[in-house]
Amino acid sequence: MISVLITAIITFNIPFPAGASSNADSSIAGLQKYLPTEFIPNAEKALRATLLSRKGSQAPLVEFVSGQSYTSSGLNIVNRIRFFSGKQTDVWLMKQHAEGHGAPSRGWTTLTLLVDKSTAPKTAYFLQWDHDPEKPAHLHPAPFTAMCFTCHPNGPRAIRPQYKPSLVPIDGSHWNQIYDWNDIISDYGEIKTYKPRVDISSNELPIDLPGRMDNEPLKNKFCIECHSKGSGVRSPLLRQHGDSILAMVENISDPTGYYVPALHEKYAFMPLVGHKLSVADMGCLKDWIQNRFMGPPAPGCSQNGEALPPARH
Ligand code: HEC
Ligand code: HEC
Repeated sequence: MISVLITAIITFNIPFPAGASSNADSSIAGLQKYLPTEFIPNAEKALRATLLSRKGSQAPLVEFVSGQSYTSSGLNIVNRIRFFSGKQTDVWLMKQHAEGHGAPSRGWTTLTLLVDKSTAPKTAYFLQWDHDPEKPAHLHPAPFTAMCFTCHPNGPRAIRPQYKPSLVPIDGSHWNQIYDWNDIISDYGEIKTYKPRVDISSNELPIDLPGRMDNEPLKNKFCIECHSKGSGVRSPLLRQHGDSILAMVENISDPTGYYVPALHEKYAFMPLVGHKLSVADMGCLKDWIQNRFMGPPAPGCSQNGEALPPARH
């Protein structure tokens, strides 16, 4: 079974930045709710140069059906990603809509991820947009419609399109673009995430789950070499990343076309190429993820979600 991930609910109707204007009155209002004060001038500069400029609308674009997320009703999600590399800040822009939701010009959700490369480790900031489609020169961050951090433990995620014969094929130049971007995403190394304080009393979604169990780090020996503080590779995986973890380790053997198996092995699965979890280790990893109330591990499993060696006679 593939674990089904629920992604951002599609609610907005926004065309891709038209790039018609980069004039001085263009405004980005309301950033202080989602970004720390000291980062705002930098963020504004990066966003102006990308979302609001002609140059931005000409940046390379890749469109594909996500191999990693569906809507709650099981529809495929179409993603359009653009990337802009700034001196201090990188901007990842993604628009998504659910297949079968009317004309493709309608119903897009616009999301951004900013990566501040000047901090050590680098810092990720999430933003969702809600702006007048007729006035792309004015941008307003909107409340989140998904808990970004539960799928993005380390800023941007490597791109893994679905690769089924029934879908429009992705052409060679787009594959090359995806590989280049995945290398950038992989090479960022460890990224910490800025968590804005949202007003939960007015029903706004935070970007992460706050509970103690949700924040317990995965100490599995097959993963921590890379996914741990100070590893330099990736930030720790927490229990709240469970769905993403399972999607990454389970899809290896999915026959329906996930993760483009042989051709694109480098970005096919976790742990990386040449390693594969045994059935017993998979079972124990699942047990750890699902054990939200800290009961004892299932028989044959360690506290860290690894299979124990069979007893000797
Ligand atoms: C259900 C899991 C999930 C949730 C929740 C989620 N994302 Fe993503 N997102 C992904 C995955 C996976 C990718 C990589 C593209 C792909 O293969 O589909 C991605 C890609 C992106 C990208 C393109 C750059 C990159 O990482 O490759 C941006 C920008 C982005 N997400 C922003 C957000 C924001 C903002 C939120 C919160 C409102 C959010 N995402 C919530 C799974 C998720
Ligand atoms: C040798 C290093 C290495 C090991 C070992 C490893 N990973 Fe990863 N992992 C990476 C890198 C690099 C990425 C980002 C690029 C990608 O997605 O392919 C990643 C990405 C991920 C992601 C997506 C979130 C993110 O940080 O981008 C998950 C979930 C994940 N790995 C789970 C696991 C699990 C579970 C294990 C152990 C069973 C594991 N990984 C072992 C290096 C590793």
